Amino acid sequence: MDAETKVYAVIGKPVRHSLSPTMHNALFKKYRLNAVYVAFEVSRENAKEAVGGIKALGIAGVNVTMPLKEEVARYVELSEAARAIGSVNTIVNSNGKLLGYTTDGIGARRALERFTTLEGANVLILGAGGAGKAIAYELSKVASVVVLNRTVEKAKALEKFGVKGDALTPENLEYYLELADVLINATSVGMNGDRSLVPREMLRSGLVVMDIVYKPLMTRLLREAKEKGCTIVDGLWMLVYQGAESFRLWTGIEADVELMRRVALERLGESK
Ligand code: ATR
Repeated sequence: MDAETKVYAVIGKPVRHSLSPTMHNALFKKYRLNAVYVAFEVSRENAKEAVGGIKALGIAGVNVTMPLKEEVARYVELSEAARAIGSVNTIVNSNGKLLGYTTDGIGARRALERFTTLEGANVLILGAGGAGKAIAYELSKVASVVVLNRTVEKAKALEKFGVKGDALTPENLEYYLELADVLINATSVGMNGDRSLVPREMLRSGLVVMDIVYKPLMTRLLREAKEKGCTIVDGLWMLVYQGAESFRLWTGIEADVELMRRVALERLGESK
Protein backbone atom coordinates (compact mmCIF):
# COMPACT_ATOMS: atom_id res chain seq x y z
CA MET A 1 0.00 0.00 0.00
CA ASP A 2 1.18 3.50 -0.74
CA ALA A 3 -0.11 7.00 -1.45
CA GLU A 4 -1.86 5.73 -4.59
CA THR A 5 -3.79 2.92 -2.92
CA LYS A 6 -7.51 3.06 -3.66
CA VAL A 7 -9.77 2.39 -0.69
CA TYR A 8 -12.98 0.35 -0.86
CA ALA A 9 -15.23 -0.48 2.08
CA VAL A 10 -18.38 -2.05 3.40
CA ILE A 11 -20.53 0.06 5.72
CA GLY A 12 -23.27 -1.24 8.01
CA LYS A 13 -23.82 -2.66 11.45
CA PRO A 14 -22.80 -5.29 12.29
CA VAL A 15 -19.95 -5.65 9.78
CA ARG A 16 -17.24 -7.44 11.74
CA HIS A 17 -18.25 -10.81 10.31
CA SER A 18 -18.69 -9.55 6.76
CA LEU A 19 -17.18 -11.78 4.09
CA SER A 20 -16.86 -8.88 1.63
CA PRO A 21 -13.36 -7.72 2.73
CA THR A 22 -12.10 -11.30 2.39
CA MET A 23 -13.57 -11.77 -1.09
CA HIS A 24 -12.61 -8.36 -2.54
CA ASN A 25 -9.08 -8.29 -1.12
CA ALA A 26 -8.48 -11.72 -2.69
CA LEU A 27 -9.62 -10.27 -6.02
CA PHE A 28 -7.45 -7.14 -5.69
CA LYS A 29 -4.47 -9.42 -5.08
CA LYS A 30 -5.31 -11.73 -7.99
CA TYR A 31 -5.73 -8.87 -10.46
CA ARG A 32 -2.74 -6.95 -9.00
CA LEU A 33 -4.74 -3.83 -8.24
CA ASN A 34 -3.32 -1.26 -5.83
CA ALA A 35 -6.45 -1.29 -3.67
CA VAL A 36 -7.64 -2.33 -0.25
CA TYR A 37 -11.09 -3.21 1.08
CA VAL A 38 -11.99 -2.51 4.73
CA ALA A 39 -15.09 -2.54 6.96
CA PHE A 40 -16.54 0.50 8.74
CA GLU A 41 -19.19 -0.04 11.38
CA VAL A 42 -21.80 2.67 10.78
CA SER A 43 -25.18 2.93 12.48
CA ARG A 44 -28.31 4.29 10.86
CA GLU A 45 -28.04 7.69 12.58
CA ASN A 46 -24.67 8.23 10.92
CA ALA A 47 -25.64 7.16 7.39
CA LYS A 48 -25.68 10.66 5.96
CA GLU A 49 -22.31 11.60 7.49
CA ALA A 50 -20.82 8.33 6.28
CA VAL A 51 -21.89 9.08 2.70
CA GLY A 52 -20.39 12.57 3.06
CA GLY A 53 -17.20 10.89 4.27
CA ILE A 54 -17.01 8.67 1.18
CA LYS A 55 -17.07 11.79 -0.95
CA ALA A 56 -14.72 13.85 1.21
CA LEU A 57 -12.11 11.09 1.49
CA GLY A 58 -12.45 9.94 -2.11
CA ILE A 59 -13.23 6.34 -1.17
CA ALA A 60 -13.44 4.57 -4.52
CA GLY A 61 -16.30 2.15 -3.90
CA VAL A 62 -18.54 1.01 -1.08
CA ASN A 63 -20.84 -1.88 -0.30
CA VAL A 64 -23.79 -0.99 1.87
CA THR A 65 -25.34 -3.58 4.14
CA MET A 66 -27.95 -3.72 6.89
CA PRO A 67 -29.36 -1.45 8.25
CA LEU A 68 -28.31 1.27 5.78
CA LYS A 69 -29.45 0.06 2.35
CA GLU A 70 -32.63 2.14 2.26
CA GLU A 71 -31.26 5.16 4.14
CA VAL A 72 -28.22 5.54 1.88
CA ALA A 73 -30.51 5.58 -1.18
CA ARG A 74 -31.56 9.10 -0.11
CA TYR A 75 -28.07 10.54 -0.57
CA VAL A 76 -26.75 9.09 -3.84
CA GLU A 77 -27.75 9.09 -7.51
CA LEU A 78 -29.77 5.95 -8.17
CA SER A 79 -29.65 3.35 -10.95
CA GLU A 80 -33.00 2.24 -12.36
CA ALA A 81 -33.09 -0.92 -10.21
CA ALA A 82 -31.96 0.89 -7.05
CA ARG A 83 -34.72 3.45 -7.53
CA ALA A 84 -37.34 0.78 -8.22
CA ILE A 85 -36.61 -1.12 -5.02
CA GLY A 86 -35.52 1.89 -2.94
CA SER A 87 -32.30 0.25 -1.82
CA VAL A 88 -28.57 0.55 -2.49
CA ASN A 89 -25.90 -2.05 -1.79
CA THR A 90 -23.13 -0.69 -4.02
CA ILE A 91 -21.78 2.84 -4.38
CA VAL A 92 -19.44 3.79 -7.21
CA ASN A 93 -17.48 7.00 -6.70
CA SER A 94 -17.27 8.38 -10.22
CA ASN A 95 -14.98 11.43 -10.02
CA GLY A 96 -16.72 12.65 -6.88
CA LYS A 97 -20.22 11.75 -8.00
CA LEU A 98 -21.70 8.92 -5.92
CA LEU A 99 -23.75 6.45 -7.96
CA GLY A 100 -25.96 3.94 -6.13
CA TYR A 101 -26.68 0.45 -7.46
CA THR A 102 -28.26 -2.72 -6.15
CA THR A 103 -26.61 -6.01 -7.03
CA ASP A 104 -28.63 -8.31 -4.74
CA GLY A 105 -31.17 -9.23 -7.41
CA ILE A 106 -28.51 -9.73 -10.09
CA GLY A 107 -26.51 -11.81 -7.61
CA ALA A 108 -29.45 -14.14 -7.11
CA ARG A 109 -30.13 -14.30 -10.83
CA ARG A 110 -26.56 -15.16 -11.77
CA ALA A 111 -26.29 -17.71 -8.97
CA LEU A 112 -29.44 -19.43 -10.25
CA GLU A 113 -28.29 -19.22 -13.87
CA ARG A 114 -25.23 -21.20 -12.89
CA PHE A 115 -27.54 -24.15 -12.26
CA THR A 116 -30.65 -23.60 -14.39
CA THR A 117 -32.35 -21.56 -17.13
CA LEU A 118 -34.65 -18.81 -15.90
CA GLU A 119 -36.18 -17.78 -19.23
CA GLY A 120 -39.87 -18.56 -18.95
CA ALA A 121 -39.48 -20.46 -15.66
CA ASN A 122 -42.05 -20.36 -12.87
CA VAL A 123 -40.34 -18.95 -9.79
CA LEU A 124 -41.77 -19.01 -6.28
CA ILE A 125 -40.17 -16.61 -3.79
CA LEU A 126 -40.88 -16.84 -0.07
CA GLY A 127 -40.40 -13.46 1.60
CA ALA A 128 -41.00 -9.87 0.54
CA GLY A 129 -38.40 -8.12 2.71
CA GLY A 130 -35.40 -6.30 1.26
CA ALA A 131 -33.91 -9.42 -0.31
CA GLY A 132 -37.22 -10.81 -1.60
CA LYS A 133 -38.04 -7.49 -3.21
CA ALA A 134 -34.67 -7.20 -4.99
CA ILE A 135 -34.87 -10.79 -6.27
CA ALA A 136 -38.50 -10.44 -7.40
CA TYR A 137 -37.67 -7.24 -9.30
CA GLU A 138 -34.74 -8.80 -11.16
CA LEU A 139 -36.25 -12.21 -11.89
CA SER A 140 -39.53 -10.70 -13.10
CA LYS A 141 -37.60 -9.48 -16.17
CA VAL A 142 -37.15 -13.05 -17.40
CA ALA A 143 -39.39 -15.38 -15.43
CA SER A 144 -42.92 -15.71 -14.15
CA VAL A 145 -42.71 -14.84 -10.45
CA VAL A 146 -44.97 -15.44 -7.44
CA VAL A 147 -44.05 -13.96 -4.03
CA LEU A 148 -45.60 -15.30 -0.84
CA ASN A 149 -45.13 -13.36 2.39
CA ARG A 150 -46.33 -13.74 5.97
CA THR A 151 -47.41 -10.09 5.89
CA VAL A 152 -49.50 -10.22 2.71
CA GLU A 153 -49.48 -6.44 2.06
CA LYS A 154 -45.72 -6.53 1.45
CA ALA A 155 -46.17 -9.26 -1.18
CA LYS A 156 -49.03 -7.35 -2.83
CA ALA A 157 -46.89 -4.21 -2.96
CA LEU A 158 -44.51 -6.04 -5.30
CA GLU A 159 -47.25 -6.54 -7.90
CA LYS A 160 -46.07 -3.24 -9.43
CA PHE A 161 -43.12 -5.26 -10.77
CA GLY A 162 -45.50 -7.56 -12.63
CA VAL A 163 -45.28 -10.41 -10.15
CA LYS A 164 -48.11 -12.13 -8.27
CA GLY A 165 -48.18 -11.45 -4.52
CA ASP A 166 -50.04 -13.56 -1.99
CA ALA A 167 -50.10 -14.66 1.64
CA LEU A 168 -47.71 -17.31 2.90
CA THR A 169 -50.24 -19.94 3.98
CA PRO A 170 -49.87 -23.75 3.81
CA GLU A 171 -52.55 -23.85 1.08
CA ASN A 172 -50.88 -21.21 -1.08
CA LEU A 173 -47.50 -22.79 -0.56
CA GLU A 174 -48.76 -26.18 -1.73
CA TYR A 175 -50.63 -24.70 -4.69
CA TYR A 176 -47.82 -22.49 -6.04
CA LEU A 177 -45.07 -24.98 -5.31
CA GLU A 178 -46.75 -27.54 -7.53
CA LEU A 179 -46.47 -25.09 -10.44
CA ALA A 180 -42.93 -23.93 -9.65
CA ASP A 181 -39.65 -24.77 -11.38
CA VAL A 182 -37.60 -22.71 -8.93
CA LEU A 183 -38.19 -22.11 -5.21
CA ILE A 184 -36.32 -19.37 -3.32
CA ASN A 185 -36.31 -18.83 0.41
CA ALA A 186 -35.77 -15.07 0.78
CA THR A 187 -36.78 -14.98 4.46
CA SER A 188 -34.47 -15.22 7.43
CA VAL A 189 -36.01 -18.57 8.44
CA GLY A 190 -33.22 -21.15 8.65
CA MET A 191 -30.63 -18.72 9.98
CA ASN A 192 -31.38 -19.19 13.67
CA GLY A 193 -32.45 -22.73 14.36
CA ASP A 194 -32.94 -25.73 12.13
CA ARG A 195 -36.26 -24.57 10.67
CA SER A 196 -37.79 -24.49 7.21
CA LEU A 197 -40.95 -22.88 5.87
CA VAL A 198 -41.46 -25.73 3.41
CA PRO A 199 -42.66 -29.15 4.63
CA ARG A 200 -40.30 -31.86 3.37
CA GLU A 201 -43.09 -33.76 1.59
CA MET A 202 -43.83 -30.76 -0.64
CA LEU A 203 -40.36 -30.96 -2.23
CA ARG A 204 -39.84 -33.04 -5.38
CA SER A 205 -36.94 -33.85 -7.65
CA GLY A 206 -36.61 -31.57 -10.64
CA LEU A 207 -37.20 -28.50 -8.50
CA VAL A 208 -34.35 -25.98 -8.16
CA VAL A 209 -34.19 -24.73 -4.57
CA MET A 210 -32.22 -21.66 -3.51
CA ASP A 211 -31.78 -20.26 0.00
CA ILE A 212 -30.48 -16.74 0.65
CA VAL A 213 -29.31 -17.81 4.11
CA TYR A 214 -25.61 -18.79 4.04
CA LYS A 215 -25.01 -19.30 7.73
CA PRO A 216 -25.50 -22.19 8.08
CA LEU A 217 -24.58 -23.00 4.49
CA MET A 218 -26.70 -26.14 4.49
CA THR A 219 -30.02 -24.92 5.84
CA ARG A 220 -32.76 -27.37 6.68
CA LEU A 221 -34.56 -26.41 3.46
CA LEU A 222 -31.48 -27.18 1.33
CA ARG A 223 -30.70 -30.38 3.20
CA GLU A 224 -34.22 -31.73 2.72
CA ALA A 225 -34.30 -30.52 -0.89
CA LYS A 226 -31.08 -32.39 -1.58
CA GLU A 227 -32.46 -35.56 0.02
CA LYS A 228 -35.46 -35.25 -2.31
CA GLY A 229 -33.23 -34.96 -5.39
CA CYS A 230 -33.68 -31.23 -6.02
CA THR A 231 -30.89 -29.06 -7.44
CA ILE A 232 -29.74 -26.82 -4.60
CA VAL A 233 -28.19 -23.34 -4.71
CA ASP A 234 -26.85 -22.09 -1.39
CA GLY A 235 -26.81 -18.52 -0.13
CA LEU A 236 -23.06 -18.21 -0.54
CA TRP A 237 -23.45 -18.38 -4.32
CA MET A 238 -25.79 -15.39 -4.16
CA LEU A 239 -23.37 -13.51 -1.90
CA VAL A 240 -20.47 -14.30 -4.21
CA TYR A 241 -22.30 -13.19 -7.36
CA GLN A 242 -23.62 -9.95 -5.82
CA GLY A 243 -20.03 -9.22 -4.80
CA ALA A 244 -18.76 -10.07 -8.27
CA GLU A 245 -21.28 -7.63 -9.75
CA SER A 246 -20.09 -4.87 -7.36
CA PHE A 247 -16.50 -5.65 -8.38
CA ARG A 248 -17.44 -5.37 -12.06
CA LEU A 249 -19.08 -1.97 -11.44
CA TRP A 250 -15.91 -0.72 -9.71
CA THR A 251 -13.21 -2.21 -11.92
CA GLY A 252 -14.83 -3.47 -15.12
CA ILE A 253 -13.34 -6.91 -14.38
CA GLU A 254 -15.42 -10.12 -14.44
CA ALA A 255 -14.41 -11.49 -11.06
CA ASP A 256 -13.21 -15.03 -10.43
CA VAL A 257 -16.23 -16.35 -8.53
CA GLU A 258 -14.54 -19.66 -7.70
CA LEU A 259 -11.80 -17.77 -5.87
CA MET A 260 -14.36 -15.62 -4.06
CA ARG A 261 -16.27 -18.68 -2.90
CA ARG A 262 -13.13 -20.50 -1.81
CA VAL A 263 -11.85 -17.67 0.40
CA ALA A 264 -15.35 -17.00 1.77
CA LEU A 265 -15.72 -20.67 2.70
CA GLU A 266 -12.34 -20.62 4.46
CA ARG A 267 -13.39 -17.54 6.40
CA LEU A 268 -16.76 -19.10 7.29
CA GLY A 269 -14.95 -22.18 8.54
CA GLU A 270 -12.72 -20.07 10.76
CA SER A 271 -15.63 -18.23 12.34
CA LYS A 272 -17.57 -21.38 13.25
P1 ATR B 1 -34.13 -8.97 4.39
O1 ATR B 1 -33.69 -7.59 4.02
O2 ATR B 1 -33.00 -9.91 4.70
O3 ATR B 1 -35.09 -9.55 3.41
P2 ATR B 1 -36.25 -8.18 6.12
O4 ATR B 1 -36.51 -7.03 5.25
O5 ATR B 1 -36.32 -7.99 7.61
O6 ATR B 1 -34.85 -8.81 5.81
O7 ATR B 1 -37.26 -9.36 5.71
C1 ATR B 1 -37.33 -10.57 6.36
C2 ATR B 1 -38.31 -11.47 5.60
O8 ATR B 1 -38.41 -12.71 6.29
C3 ATR B 1 -39.73 -10.91 5.54
O9 ATR B 1 -40.33 -11.34 4.32
C4 ATR B 1 -40.38 -11.59 6.73
O10 ATR B 1 -41.80 -11.68 6.66
P3 ATR B 1 -42.71 -10.42 7.19
O11 ATR B 1 -42.65 -9.40 6.11
O12 ATR B 1 -44.06 -10.98 7.35
O13 ATR B 1 -42.10 -9.97 8.47
C5 ATR B 1 -39.77 -12.96 6.62
N1 ATR B 1 -39.82 -13.73 7.86
C6 ATR B 1 -39.02 -13.62 8.95
N2 ATR B 1 -39.36 -14.54 9.88
C7 ATR B 1 -40.38 -15.26 9.37
C8 ATR B 1 -41.16 -16.38 9.83
N3 ATR B 1 -40.94 -16.93 11.03
N4 ATR B 1 -42.12 -16.86 9.02
C9 ATR B 1 -42.35 -16.34 7.80
N5 ATR B 1 -41.65 -15.29 7.30
C10 ATR B 1 -40.69 -14.76 8.08
